Amino acid sequence: MPRLLTTIPEVRDAISTCRKQNGDEAKIGFVPTMGALHRGHAALIEAAAAECETVIVSIFVNPTQFAPHEDLDKYPRTLEADLELCDEYGAAIVFHPSAKEMYPPEFRSVVDVEGVTGLLEGEHRPTHFQGVTTVVMKLFNIVQADRAYFGQKDYQQQMVIRKMVEDLNLPVEIVTVPTWRDPDGLALSSRNKFLSSTEREQALVLSRVLKSTADRIRTGETDFQMLVTQAIVEITETGLKPDYFSIANTKTLEKLQAPLAEMVLLVAAYAGSTRLIDNSTVSLS
Ligand code: PAJ
Repeated sequence: MPRLLTTIPEVRDAISTCRKQNGDEAKIGFVPTMGALHRGHAALIEAAAAECETVIVSIFVNPTQFAPHEDLDKYPRTLEADLELCDEYGAAIVFHPSAKEMYPPEFRSVVDVEGVTGLLEGEHRPTHFQGVTTVVMKLFNIVQADRAYFGQKDYQQQMVIRKMVEDLNLPVEIVTVPTWRDPDGLALSSRNKFLSSTEREQALVLSRVLKSTADRIRTGETDFQMLVTQAIVEITETGLKPDYFSIANTKTLEKLQAPLAEMVLLVAAYAGSTRLIDNSTVSLS
């Protein structure tokens, strides 16, 4: 089983011992998570373990990235199973702090990335990314890993983290790992647990529409307004409530009216009360 650490000084100690024992060349890989780990998280741990001598996973349901009306209280917490998954895929250390350890009462700082955080997820969850960047900055400073692993599943999140790392000169390399899907196409998410069997079936429309829209763009369709409208109609007719479907620039996430060599399609929709997101890149080169 991995070592379970709950305080910041314990992590600092463990990392410094690890650096002393393994030497400067040995890499430390970091996988930040909110727990309720599934095969998608495992893919990140696996990628880290393949490239780094030591892998540390954080499990922290970060309250500051949830708006008051969101699902913080009901977010799944499955520590025992999470530790087993970490063990299976090669993590040596799990950092599982309390909210007080991360945010003592006198805590007053935030990290804010401007620009890309105003679009898509940022439009629908206006306080979300500030919560993410602040906690990830703290975690980076606590762990001081060489590489940190993020999922393409949260496409905008990994972009925002990359921007923070670039702008603030953080000495960590960001690695983006492809989205892990169930065989029927559904992108794995800790929130999939909340789906009824009907909702799970309906949720398949997201990966299906991403794929069909990507195929149509690849075969020469250029009327993006029509593609977006048709995607929204199909998602709605399946019984989901879409927040957005966007054909966007991979560098800025701005909405595209015409094809580029590299594009990303992003979607967010509610299946019942569960909010799901997914995306797919399209390359014409
Ligand atoms: P969480 O939703 O637990 O996700 C942790 C990491 O796992 C993220 O980088 C996410 O993109 C990745 N991930 C989730 N589902 C995936 C899938 N199906 N395939 C590949 N990777 C997947 O994202 C967060 O937590 C938080 O915002 C966090 C970064 C930990 C900050 O609190």
